Amino acid sequence: MKLGVNIDHVATLRQARYSDSLDLPQAEPDILAAAAACERAGAHGITIHLRADRRHIQDRDVFALREALTTKLNLEMGNSAEILAIALRVRPEEVCLVPENRQEITTEGGLDAAGQFPLLQPTLEQLHAAGIRVSLFIEPALEQIDAARRLGAEMVELHTGAFANAQGQAAADELQRLKVAAEHAAGLGLQVNAGHGINYVNIREVLTVPHLAELNIGHSIVSRAVFTGLGPAVADMLTAMSAAPRP
Ligand code: PXP
Repeated sequence: MKLGVNIDHVATLRQARYSDSLDLPQAEPDILAAAAACERAGAHGITIHLRADRRHIQDRDVFALREALTTKLNLEMGNSAEILAIALRVRPEEVCLVPENRQEITTEGGLDAAGQFPLLQPTLEQLHAAGIRVSLFIEPALEQIDAARRLGAEMVELHTGAFANAQGQAAADELQRLKVAAEHAAGLGLQVNAGHGINYVNIREVLTVPHLAELNIGHSIVSRAVFTGLGPAVADMLTAMSAAPRP
C-alpha cells in the first residue's frame, strides 16, 4: 500500500503571502523542501495539482519537483490543452485526470469519464505516447470504471469524498459503494487508488476497501504538519496505514 502526499496546500500557504514575489529568497514555505521531507519520512510519491487558475502550484514548481523528486511525481490536471502541453514537457511518471471548476475550493466530484469519453480519448493517447501512466479520478460508479477501462487508463482513483463527508448509515453505504467499485475495477485489471478527504481517523475504514494500491492524501497530513512538522505527519499516516486491518 503506497502513500502519495498531496502538497498543494504547502503552495497555498506560500501563495497567500508571495504570489507576486516568488523570486524573493524568503518566499516560503519551500515546496521542494516540503517534498523532500515527505520522501524522507517514507512517502512513496508526491502529488500536485497544476490548476488552470494557478491558485497554488505554479509551473515552475512542477518542473522543479520533476527534477528533485527521488520517488515519483503524480501530476493531477484538468483535461485542458494548456495543461496537457505542460504535462507532455514535464513527463511525470503519472498523470491523474481530474474535473476542474474554477469556483471550487478543491476538486469536487469525480471526472465524468463516461460522458466525456471523446474529449478524454485524445488526451490519454498523447499521455501514453509520452510514456506517462494515466489515472482517472472518478466516483465509485461502475459506468465510470468501465469508461476508464475503455479509455485505456492504467489506474482509477476512487473519490472518497462522499464517504469522508457522510455519517452513520450514509457513510456505511458510501463505503460499500467504494468496495463494489474497487472489486469491479480490479476485475478489469485496473490499478485501484483512492483519495480525497482521507484522514487519520477514517483511514481504518478506507482500508477495508479491497485492492487498494495507493492513497493520495493532502489536507489531513498538511494540517497535522502545522503541529508536528511534515515528516512526523507523513510517518503517522504511514503507521496508521500499516496498522489498519486489510481485507
Ligand atoms: N486526490 C485528488 C484527485 C485530489 O484532487 C485531491 C485534492 O483535492 C486529493 C486526492 C487529496 O485530497 P485531500 O486533500 O482531501 O486529502
